Amino acid sequence: MSTDHCEIEVKRMSSRKRIKDGVRSHLTPAKKVSCTDGGEDSEAARLGMDHSTGDVSLVTAALGSPSASQKNLAFNQLEIEDQALQHNILSYCSDHEDLFGDYDSILEDCSFMAKLEDVEQDAKQQITELGFDKGTTFDQPHGVDLAPQCPSPTFTALKMAGDHSQNVLCGEDHADSDIMSELNEVCEDIPSSQFAFQHEVLTEMGRSDTFTPAEKATGAHFILDGSIDKQGSTTHARRSMTDLLKRAMLENACAASPSISRLAARKEAAVIEEMDAAANTVQAMTSEIDLGPFFGLPTKVKDLLAQLRGIKELYDWQKTCLALDSVKQHRNLIYSLPTSGGKTLVAEILILKELLCRRMDALLVLPYISLVQEKVRGLASLGLELGFLVEEYAGSKGRFPPVKRRNKRSLYVATIEKAHSLVNALVELGRLESVGLLVVDELHMLGEGSRGALLEMTLAKVLYVSKSTQIIGMSATLSNVKDLQKFLKAENYTSDFRPVQLVEYVKIQDTIYEVHPQEDDCFWFSRALNFKYSSSMQKIDPDHIIALVTEVIPAHSCLVFCPSKKNCENVASMICKDFLLHHDVKKAALLQELRSSGGGAVCPVLQFTVPFGLAYHHSGLTNEERKLVEEAYAAGVLCLLTCTSTLAAGINLPARRVILRSPYVAMNFLKRSQYKQMVGRAGRAGIDATGESILILQEKDKLLAKQLVSSPMESCYSQLMHDNGKGIHSLILSLVGLKITRTLEQIRDFVLATLLSVQESHTCPERKLWDVTQDSVEFLRQKGLLKASKDCENNLVLEVTSLGRATYKGSIDLTCSDILYRDLSKGLDSLVLNSLLHLVYLVTPYDMVSQCKPDWTIFFRQFSSMTAAEQKMASDIGVPESFVARKAAGQSVKKPADPMVVARLYLALVVFSLVKENSLWSVANRFQLSRGFIQSLLSSASAFCSCVLHFTEELEEFWAYKALLTELTRRLTYCVKVELIPLMEVAGVLEFRAKQLYNAGYKTLAHLANADPSLLVRTVQNLSRKQANQIVASAKMLLTEKAEALQEEVNNMLTLPSDLPSS
Ligand SMILES: Nc1ncnc2c1ncn2[C@@H]1O[C@H](COP(=O)(O)OP(=O)(O)OP(=O)(O)O)[C@@H](O)[C@H]1O
Ligand SMILES: [Mg+2]
Repeated sequence: MSTDHCEIEVKRMSSRKRIKDGVRSHLTPAKKVSCTDGGEDSEAARLGMDHSTGDVSLVTAALGSPSASQKNLAFNQLEIEDQALQHNILSYCSDHEDLFGDYDSILEDCSFMAKLEDVEQDAKQQITELGFDKGTTFDQPHGVDLAPQCPSPTFTALKMAGDHSQNVLCGEDHADSDIMSELNEVCEDIPSSQFAFQHEVLTEMGRSDTFTPAEKATGAHFILDGSIDKQGSTTHARRSMTDLLKRAMLENACAASPSISRLAARKEAAVIEEMDAAANTVQAMTSEIDLGPFFGLPTKVKDLLAQLRGIKELYDWQKTCLALDSVKQHRNLIYSLPTSGGKTLVAEILILKELLCRRMDALLVLPYISLVQEKVRGLASLGLELGFLVEEYAGSKGRFPPVKRRNKRSLYVATIEKAHSLVNALVELGRLESVGLLVVDELHMLGEGSRGALLEMTLAKVLYVSKSTQIIGMSATLSNVKDLQKFLKAENYTSDFRPVQLVEYVKIQDTIYEVHPQEDDCFWFSRALNFKYSSSMQKIDPDHIIALVTEVIPAHSCLVFCPSKKNCENVASMICKDFLLHHDVKKAALLQELRSSGGGAVCPVLQFTVPFGLAYHHSGLTNEERKLVEEAYAAGVLCLLTCTSTLAAGINLPARRVILRSPYVAMNFLKRSQYKQMVGRAGRAGIDATGESILILQEKDKLLAKQLVSSPMESCYSQLMHDNGKGIHSLILSLVGLKITRTLEQIRDFVLATLLSVQESHTCPERKLWDVTQDSVEFLRQKGLLKASKDCENNLVLEVTSLGRATYKGSIDLTCSDILYRDLSKGLDSLVLNSLLHLVYLVTPYDMVSQCKPDWTIFFRQFSSMTAAEQKMASDIGVPESFVARKAAGQSVKKPADPMVVARLYLALVVFSLVKENSLWSVANRFQLSRGFIQSLLSSASAFCSCVLHFTEELEEFWAYKALLTELTRRLTYCVKVELIPLMEVAGVLEFRAKQLYNAGYKTLAHLANADPSLLVRTVQNLSRKQANQIVASAKMLLTEKAEALQEEVNNMLTLPSDLPSS
């Protein structure tokens, strides 16, 4: 085998084949039982990595290239050794067979590892027979061959260099002094010429040699054979953190003196670099290799999908899409299919491939917090089974900076806002390339206002900074996909597949027409309605909604989209007819839960409608109510929901029939994409054979409606110029802040790669993009966010000011960062700390102010009940009692107050009351605001609080705020009694459920993570088995994530600084 020329072959063999070939089986039950844990190697094996497939040839291929010119003795030896291994391993593998054979159950089953071990042992044996000793093996320039215990390059190459510090801390056997001294001896044996060569390679690669003291002491741990790793890791779970700390410190203390260890370190660096290079090459190659029987994944994944989701077979389009060249070759892709087409599953399979096969992190971007929570809950079980972490980035949740994991890969599930912050953080840390895959669901969100701008910035940064990150976008409503393709440098896959056929109808007066969008006259007569309505009924329900819904309910489900929140409630109440009245235990239980979630109060409309099997759903409901209603509808306890358009693109709640009460959302005629999303809810896969939608029209809207059903989908346009170019301003600020671009020319190059540039003629027709860019830079300079200086060659170089850095780090709106700075500075002079009001005021979001006008009577009443300190604080910020009193009395005010400050204080009082009382209902009552509004005010305040915290962290003068705002963020995020917070950290556990769990004895995260789902179902009222499983899985996932993060922290803490001065 030549080192210049390496062919990659994947060799496979099933257990059956091995037996047939007369090779002894390595998958004995005894082995399966004795292997209990992962460790890096066995984890990779569990996940069906390529160790056992094309390993030898892959690794040698990987190694071949850097040392192609070094055809020395060492390589000849390697060749012979490789041949020995090749012979050995090929005797176990045969082409074209399932790698996983009968043993693809990768969880808790180390048979795979056992097989590897045995292969290894045999290889060792063979090499000994061929006359290689430890020294000769170790003399090879390739990291993979340096292990005396592990002659097979296969096994060692796939252990990442960075992983061994974990082993150092955890592995019992690693510290065995005899092994260590043996290995150190071997390290010293590298010939100086060889070392020089390795050093050269290192220098060329521009890497630094950084080692933990522990790594130095046990420099060859990563080349220890798999069995030692495994033994170590079986015990590490039982060892206390103190033990680990002590041990690591001892190891540090025992480390060789700096002068000696530097040599050892450099040698080791050479080894690690080689291994890194090998692992990376292998990684890159594996992306193109089908490693398992289920779209490159182990059959375990297939089993889990069947078990957890009930998905037994992929749709044809899903198979085709997964077989696309662009997918296989890790290129960017946009795919669009109608609603309910099953797009998510394809994305999930790609994510699993990224995490398990390519061993890279992945980022999934979803448009709403509720969707993120649902996904985190839904993926927790998969993560636990397959050994990856699922991290939630939504609202104020998510770690910044994200923890660098050595042993596990992470799937970040994020909202658009959080994904942007996450990408910024990764760019700043130089770790963006660790995200191998970025998936954007509902890609058409690119065209939606400020969130669209954020999404575009995120994508543009990933495209510019990390060439190796694959981007996948999906949507049901894209028309100008070419623009998006150009922007994302992506290929496109489209299909009109829908598992359940959707038939669209419109109703005009007493006639139903079927919609045929392709025809000139697209409304075809379908049937005449002959509902026998009394004259009073006709008055109440002129559009015959009751008749239309009762054609399907209660036997089937129905969604009625209404133009306003009030209309939702009215229509739900109107439909309640006696024949639907059916008191059953589940409906009573739902009402009971609604009541408990409201602290004894229940919405009168829901109290009336639920016994009929109906409910309304809009943003006026609290999160708990919404969740309860959604779950009851999904479970069939409710058969009909009246809702606003918010349900159209949110949680997956399909129906047999969807009725659009009117073609309006508030006062605006429906957009094509909104219409498509709404009608797309019709037809439940696996339940209904067809789905149907009925749009209720008035004669006057007929023409517009014809356009609505037949016109192409609206195009999706860049929003960087939205709201006076806020998007492009903040893009440029963060580009400079993150040092992605430093000069005007670089900024121009970056902007040329945005969607804005692709659509320049449409999005900024009057001005050239270059002018826009320059103006934007000027704007930022004038705002004191950017500054310019000249470099030695007299070029203009841009830098962010400290305010600019704080602004982009905190994701603060550029237009109010100076106001925030001023408010916080003023706060330092006279911060009132004997009440939370002042701090709450400082984090009350500026953009909520326009949504609520103070009720002066209520304001005055609240003001009067404030403490003297609080009143003084109000007065200090410019809202004295006299002002509020005069307003309440309807008198004119002599000295007007700043309306922004006044309204912000009013909202702060609302949030403050919530923090004090924890009762949404009573606060809603007192301030005469809808509980939904109050809830969204609270979540905005908690999200803004974490933004302000990041803002203050960047400005030294605000040091005092750090501790205060950290605690306030936590309080606002949960706003419940302190003891419930650990339970509510689990995705999807809201206050009511947390209370139930707490009362049932589950008081901490550990309690939940170790709970028995069957017992939970028995002891917690109205908890279904599915919900119990999800809660336990999510808690386990969160606990694992936290424990891993702590472990990483310990490792980092004990790492010897690379620049430690030495004699
Ligand atoms: N191969 C399959 N077999 C059976 N059910 C499937 C399959 N693929 C997906 N599904 C189910 O179909 C339903 C709709 O899928 P999904 O949510 O992925 O649709 P979508 O294309 O993302 O639609 P939307 O545009 O509305 O978000 C889900 O309940 C999903 O579990
Ligand atoms: Mg979807």
